This record gives sequence, C-alpha cells and structure tokens, in this order.
Amino acid sequence: MIRAGIAGLGAYAPARLLTNRDLERMVGTSDEWIVKRTGIRERRIADESEATSDLAVPAARQALERAGVAPSEVDLIVVGTSFPDMVFPSTANFVQHKLGAGQAGSVDVSAACSGSVYSLSVGAQYIETGKYRTVLTIGAEVYSRLVDWKDRRTCVLFGDGAGAAVLRPAADGSGILDTDLYSDGQYWDLLYVPGGRSRHPATRESVAQGLQYLKMPRGEEVFKVAVRTLADASLAILEKNGFGPDAVDLFVPHQANIRIIEAVAKRLHLPMEKVVVNVDRYGNTAAASVYVAFAEAWAQGRVRPGALVLLATFGGGFTWGTALVRWS
Ligand code: ACO
Repeated sequence: MIRAGIAGLGAYAPARLLTNRDLERMVGTSDEWIVKRTGIRERRIADESEATSDLAVPAARQALERAGVAPSEVDLIVVGTSFPDMVFPSTANFVQHKLGAGQAGSVDVSAACSGSVYSLSVGAQYIETGKYRTVLTIGAEVYSRLVDWKDRRTCVLFGDGAGAAVLRPAADGSGILDTDLYSDGQYWDLLYVPGGRSRHPATRESVAQGLQYLKMPRGEEVFKVAVRTLADASLAILEKNGFGPDAVDLFVPHQANIRIIEAVAKRLHLPMEKVVVNVDRYGNTAAASVYVAFAEAWAQGRVRPGALVLLATFGGGFTWGTALVRWS
C-alpha cells in the first residue's frame, strides 16, 4: 500500500498585530480577562486587500519550497476554510491560479476549525490510492471579518492565518499512519454563522441583524465538548494503531484556548513539553491553526526524524478529527 507523507510544511501570518491592549480600547474587555480565560495575548489581522487565498498562497509557496516541489507538479489542491474568498469559485481555485499550478484540480473543504485535519485526510486518500503523486493541502481563514467587533465574548478569541502541507508518497514506515474524521450536527447552534448563504441570504435586514457574524451563545458548552472529543478521539487513534499516549513525541492540538489544550494534555497524560502551543500569539485561526502550529514547531526543530506526531482538531458543527504522522 502507498502511504502519504508530509514533504513540506509552511505557514503565513499577516503582519498587522492586534494585542489585548488594543482590544481594551475597542470593546469592554481587559488583557487580564483574556489571558486568564484563553491564554491569548495577541493575534494577526489581515489587511483590507487580503482575502483567504492571499494568506493561503504564501503558506503554500513556503511548503512547496521546503518540499522541493514546483507548483506545476501539484496534481490537486485541497483548501480547508470556513470563510472562502467568495461563495464560488472556490478558494482552492484562486490558489491554483495564483500559484501557477498547471491545471491541478482544486476543491475547498468546509469543516470549520477542523479544516486542517479534514483537508489533510482528504488529500492523503488520493496519494494512498495511487491516483495522484502530489497534493497540496492548506488551511486558511480571515475570521477578523467574520466576528462582530462589538461582541466581546467572541471577537477576542480569533485571528487570521494560513498553513500548508505538501503530500507525497512516503518512504517505508513513515508518513500519515492514519486519520479519523468525525462530526455531530446536533450541536450546530453552539457555534455558527447564519447569514450570507442559502438559509439567510445577505439582505439589508439580515445585515442589520448582524447575521453575517459568528455566533457562540454558550462558550462554556463548546469548551466541555471540545475537551472530551479531542481527548477521546486522540486516545482512539492511538489505540487503533497500537500506541499508548506515551509513544507520542509531539502533540499538535487545535489552538483555541490554552485551558482546552492543557485539559486535553492532562487527560492524555502528556507533559506540556510535548505539546505545541502558539495560541498566545495567534489566537484561534480556525482551519489554519493546526497547520500553523505544526509548521512553526518544525521550523523550531521540534519535529525530529522518526517522531510520532499526533494532530487533533475541533470546530463548529461540531466537527473534529485526528491524524497520526511518523515524521521522516
Ligand atoms: N472580556 C471581559 N469579560 C468578558 C469577555 C471579555 N472578552 N467575554 C465574556 N465576558 C464576561 C461575560 O459577559 C460574563 O460576564 P457575566 O457573568 O457578567 O455575564 C463573564 O465574562 C464570564 O463569561 P463566561 O462565558 O462564563 O466565561 P468563560 O470562563 O466560560 O470563558 C470562553 C469564556 C473563553 C469563551 C470559554 O467559554 C471558552 O474558551 N470556550 C470555548 C469556546 C472556544 O474556544 N470557541 C472558539 C471556537 S471553537 C473552537 O475552535 C474549539
């Protein structure tokens, strides 16, 4: 059987910084409240000219360069995003054109914050079946345009960014050992964006009601389900592949909240030295978050050859997923 491996990782964050101090001047919040409840200190914000594909492209270029792969060699582009440039064409379609990726197939995967692991899993299937040799997978979001900057319960949590992974057939024994995808749509109304699509198309009324903005009416419930599902799914993929949590060299969880990350690490009995954390500097970048954290850990030399890396993500829907990677 052919196994897919990660040949290169890349990330991009917009230059503009928005600190908790800046937010204190915009909305009724404080640096102390945000740090204590979430661990977030600052986040990056796209400038007005940047849409989701504009963040995706530099992340993709970096991943391709590190993999030593030319854009013309890419067979398929899979972009995980919940806030595409337009309703259509897909964001992946814009990325294909901007990269000059021949006539590569292109498709978006919508799984909210789980878009990273979902796009990785979808892309890996095409390598494993032998259908394609090079798949570019990306997670990219511009949530700064999806949040209501007057809603202090949500606007402090998110940031913009993009991450990418180039997938190619892996060398013996290494690569993406397994992925698991899950969802449970009964929780849709805990985290959602109602407006701008077929349910509530953009009208003067819908915009006046703020339906185009992200809603999270009960954050504490999201918190509880996130901890439980991230931990259970992580344990399940490890057990299925014959590993205990102590075999994990590096854990790359979705970066939503330091308290969620610490609670999951505790349930897995993983010391925090094995856990990648950058939520303090980027906030929650949704579908980009696991890729941005993974790429940053790689650039810091934390992903050693032979390392067993566990990725786990969770997002609106709810959706969640895991991936187990033997780095080569
Ligand atoms: N600044 C100051 N006060 C605030 C803020 C803020 N930014 N936001 C809310 N508050 C107030 C609330 O109004 C409330 O005040 P009240 O008691 O007078 O009504 C008080 O703080 C406590 O609010 P809670 O919602 O109980 O605070 P909690 O400790 O639950 O923390 C938080 C809120 C951070 C959202 C938490 O529930 C959480 O992290 N949930 C997970 C949700 C999440 O991460 N979602 C992101 C997307 S999902 C994903 O990616 C996993």
